[in-house]
Amino acid sequence: MDSAIIRDRDFAASALEGLQADPKWLDSKWLYDAEGSAIFEQITQLPEYYPTRTETRILKDEISALSQVLDPGTVLVELGSGASVKTRILLDAASQLGAYVPVDISADFLEETAKGLREAYPGTPIRPVVGDFTQDIRLPAALDAEPKTAFFPGSTIGNLPHDTAAAMLDRLRHWPGIKALILGLDLVKDTTTLVEAYDDAAGVTANFNLNLLRRMNREIGADFDLSAFHHEARWNAELSRIEMHLVSDKDQTVTVAGTPIAFAAGESIHTENSRKYTREAFAAIADRGGWEIADFLTDAGQLFAVAVLKPKQD
Ligand code: AVJ
Repeated sequence: MDSAIIRDRDFAASALEGLQADPKWLDSKWLYDAEGSAIFEQITQLPEYYPTRTETRILKDEISALSQVLDPGTVLVELGSGASVKTRILLDAASQLGAYVPVDISADFLEETAKGLREAYPGTPIRPVVGDFTQDIRLPAALDAEPKTAFFPGSTIGNLPHDTAAAMLDRLRHWPGIKALILGLDLVKDTTTLVEAYDDAAGVTANFNLNLLRRMNREIGADFDLSAFHHEARWNAELSRIEMHLVSDKDQTVTVAGTPIAFAAGESIHTENSRKYTREAFAAIADRGGWEIADFLTDAGQLFAVAVLKPKQD
């Protein structure tokens, strides 16, 4: 109960901070409540949203290269494991893993997933850890001495500013026993493909973005009129990122947690960044975090990459 109250207070404080700024913004982590996560699952099935199916294809096609960092005894740690769907490709190929450690912020989801995995992989110890990969993650101390490979799929790293991404990679680099990191990253490509992936014809991504307004109405007593805002996906070429925005259709004032927030017609709330990389740009971030690219696996269309990183030798 207490934690729910604190969470609401955090959400209200964070939302007000962003909505009183110029330009207005909201932290993308608030997109992923239970409803938002369910809508994101729908996004991964969309014809326009190429990342999920492309990454899955690369993992399957390149499984023999990936198996080289999954030696017997290796502990596989997944950051932001969700339903661990892609992980099963790795678990199917690896033999005698020391353990599989899914790390996720949602404790309920994690337990559900762990149950299914224990049934499917009875020979692999499944040791879920509740944690936020943008913060420090505490792995079970009993696993300190074991060799580890981390898995961070989905180009989730693309949500993070480059400095934050490099800092996170640096923290991983200092985990005891860390040997390798398998990381998914989305690649720069033509603008139409990028924009359509974040503004699909069926309107699922629009619904995902607008859910943030519904969530504020539900949880922090806001009174957004959802018919007076629309979703936009914008390619920011200079910063190499897709930006999601919620744009006000008219001059209006909304109340959020008791505070009036004025919108001009056409004014937007910036809700998410999804960064797209070239191999060189990503290599520079990895280098700052203490890693080098050992393998860079892509699909034939060069849409997406799975990088195998190794700690930089110094
Ligand atoms: C979950 C952050 C990887 O950036 O592609 C998809 C989120 N937002 N469509 C992405 C997202 C809108 C997604 N990540």
